[in-house]
Amino acid sequence: MTEISREHLKNLLDRERTTYRENNPRSIELYGQAKNLFGSVPMTWMNKWSGGFPLYFETAQGNQITDVDGHTYIDFALGDTGAMAGHSPQASTAAINERIAVAGGITTMLPTSDAQWVGAELTRRFGLPLWSFTLTATDANRWAVRLARLATGKSKILVFSYCYHGSVDETFAVPDATGAAVARPGNVAPPVALAETTRVVEFNDLAAVERELANGDVAAILTEPAMTNIGIVLPEPGFLSGLRELATKYNALLMIDETHTFSAGPGGMTARDNLAPDIFVIGKSIGAGIPCGAYGITQEVADLLANHPEADLIDVGGVGGTLAGNALSLTAMRATLEQLLTDEAFSHMIELGTRYTDGVRAILERYEINWSISQIGARAEYRFTSPAPLNGSDSAAKSDDELDEFMHLYMCNRGILMTPFHNMALMCPTTTQADVDAHERLFEAAIVELAQIK
Ligand SMILES: Cc1ncc(COP(=O)(O)O)c(C=O)c1O
Repeated sequence: MTEISREHLKNLLDRERTTYRENNPRSIELYGQAKNLFGSVPMTWMNKWSGGFPLYFETAQGNQITDVDGHTYIDFALGDTGAMAGHSPQASTAAINERIAVAGGITTMLPTSDAQWVGAELTRRFGLPLWSFTLTATDANRWAVRLARLATGKSKILVFSYCYHGSVDETFAVPDATGAAVARPGNVAPPVALAETTRVVEFNDLAAVERELANGDVAAILTEPAMTNIGIVLPEPGFLSGLRELATKYNALLMIDETHTFSAGPGGMTARDNLAPDIFVIGKSIGAGIPCGAYGITQEVADLLANHPEADLIDVGGVGGTLAGNALSLTAMRATLEQLLTDEAFSHMIELGTRYTDGVRAILERYEINWSISQIGARAEYRFTSPAPLNGSDSAAKSDDELDEFMHLYMCNRGILMTPFHNMALMCPTTTQADVDAHERLFEAAIVELAQIK
């Protein structure tokens, strides 16, 4: 295997940081002026951007972004999946404009018929018959977790170490040496000790799942069908069907969050791999960037909920939000599902996802670089370790902040944006082969420099 010298990497990283500062004077200036914002950004996670300050953007169309210093980028970050249909895609913006400016009524406390259309379409794609709408995937997870506790009368949620499901208190847990749930490093002021709400094990470890379920207090297993927020961690054969069987055996609900793995196809991994969840969660991409989310439940879960007439599921019982289910989100979801994230669009996006993955893998093999790449349809991500990790803790342990920053800045300084939280690339309907090939050329150039290949 080819060694990458840390000294050399540090020098390259310094060079890329300098170029980034020199290239982006207007972004630096705006960032410097943002002292009235907590952390100098509209949302604190925007400080995750490599290079010490985020780019300020001016326009974004399809898979291209132009920043305030006049650079135009090929965007593979796509708002970390929020813009999987592309930035401001025409079909959605036409419907959104019609709702806002012509028909009128962004939020009214009244339904529109778009909700039924979207519900029926989600049923066609993912199978569950009953749907509720939210403004974010975080909200969908939070509210669905409450429903799972109500339906089962059990208190805990089982999650996988280093999972991410939005800012959901129950999920920021890792196992300690004894297997008990403790707060994950960095967890901001958890409201209660994690062991009170959560059981946590490693992804791909069915024996540990069974051991924890056997305590009899787990309302739901909450999981992505492949982890996507600690690199991509794919399920081993039999793991997801094993989860389904164990959930049924121990009277827990299986809750599948496909906010990111929707990239696998028009019906996500749920349809592709016949996952049969009791509760299903999605968000981000289905509104083309307009805040939205949804959770679906089976008739059996609805029947269990109906056994609890004392629970206030209508007003202030802890499930709901004034703007949730608003007319604008539903219009955006309808247009996006009907016209943009179609079967044909997915075929194109997945084909490019495969081209991207094959290209990166071939370069890693050619230069004998000990990294790996994993793909979920239109989404691919490389990780600085090989073989690809099988669970979240292992993947977290293999993180490499310097390599990560170098790859982000190398790409950004040459016109390609990768997702700031990881080395994820996502294809949208307007991504082209030429875009993927441009990435491949740059990726090869970065590897040749890094590994000092003559
Ligand atoms: C799997 C998964 N679920 C839920 C969320 C939360 O989405 P949002 O930030 O839109 O609430 C995320 C965000 O990255 C996610 O990756």
